[in-house]
Amino acid sequence: MNGAGMATRKTDGPAGAGGERASAGQAPLLEIDRLCVSAHINGQDWRALENITLRVDRGETRGLVGESGSGKSLTLRAAMGLLPGSLSVTSGAIRFKGRDLLADGGKAMAAVRGTGIAMVFQEPAVALNPVMRVGRQITDSVSARRGWGRRQAREFAVELMDQVGIRDPKRWVEAYPHQLSGGMRQRVMIASAIACGPELIFCDEPTTALDVTVQSQILKLFSKLQADLHAGFLYVTHDLSVVAEFCSSLSVMYAGRIVEQSDDLKAMVQAPVHPYTRALLGAVPRIKGPIQRLRGLSSSAPPLTERSQAPTAPLAEVSPGWQVAPASPEEVELFETGVQAWEAQA
Ligand SMILES: Nc1ncnc2c1ncn2[C@@H]1O[C@H](COP(=O)(O)OP(=O)(O)OP(=O)(O)O)[C@@H](O)[C@H]1O
Ligand SMILES: [Mg+2]
Repeated sequence: MNGAGMATRKTDGPAGAGGERASAGQAPLLEIDRLCVSAHINGQDWRALENITLRVDRGETRGLVGESGSGKSLTLRAAMGLLPGSLSVTSGAIRFKGRDLLADGGKAMAAVRGTGIAMVFQEPAVALNPVMRVGRQITDSVSARRGWGRRQAREFAVELMDQVGIRDPKRWVEAYPHQLSGGMRQRVMIASAIACGPELIFCDEPTTALDVTVQSQILKLFSKLQADLHAGFLYVTHDLSVVAEFCSSLSVMYAGRIVEQSDDLKAMVQAPVHPYTRALLGAVPRIKGPIQRLRGLSSSAPPLTERSQAPTAPLAEVSPGWQVAPASPEEVELFETGVQAWEAQA
């Protein structure tokens, strides 16, 4: 059975470099347009996201990288309508296939969540319901939508579990999350994300909580899904070797802003423009092999309450599809020092 029409939406091949740019008249899959999000802390509003603008097209895998606290998860959460209560969107737009998801008080957002856009979280043990059998968790939303009975849903769960590489799925379909290993739980979460055949998949550090061997198995699964589903992916990671392997485009965040992004990952990695991107990528042009975190760079972005509240200038276009934020003299000094420290150690 392939009842949901999911997960085999194979079309004309794997997600290639740059995916498919939406052609004239066709709206991009995801378009985040000057999105601002504020956090309400101790009676005061602080900027958490500032003018986030990015897009993801069909068949594209866009990496989203930046130091801890830079706003990667908030960007995904805002685009899914899942911001925590203390945070709210203050301006900007989020469009899915041209439809404004913020326009009608959350109805459009709720309609696409799960079916159009799905999310794979970092920590499956937290994201999965501990008292629900995994098979049911995988198919809950799709079977409710399609009015499936228990048997039909179970069969589909087994099929999906097989597709995400869980061996002997019939044995595990009635298990509870705690009975599964970390890698199996992450596979269950991926199965549940693809159950409704989403066109866009958000991944928030989906392998960080796993040990190295399991990480590489899950990464192989993502490669397969890239080829099979022809969905768009927005992939948050700290691991730049994962970016080099999976992504065709890249957005770099720092302190709640996009500082540089390009539809052409390779070009940007070879000649990053913003001092933060240069620092993050080690200022060394290389795309093959592991790209490691710069040792001289701090490991986290400044907290919201210590960030500049001055208005930020819009991104400037370096070339079509490649934009860079102007860097302040303080930022240039801060990040250039990081680059020099790295070069001294190299
Ligand atoms: N519920 C919340 N209330 C207030 N501030 C928050 C909340 N959640 C996140 N923040 C703040 O928003 C900023 C961005 O957080 P976010 O979780 O998006 O970072 P991140 O880039 O995903 O970091 P990491 O790599 O550590 O996951 C951080 O400064 C964080 O402290
Ligand atoms: Mg995060």
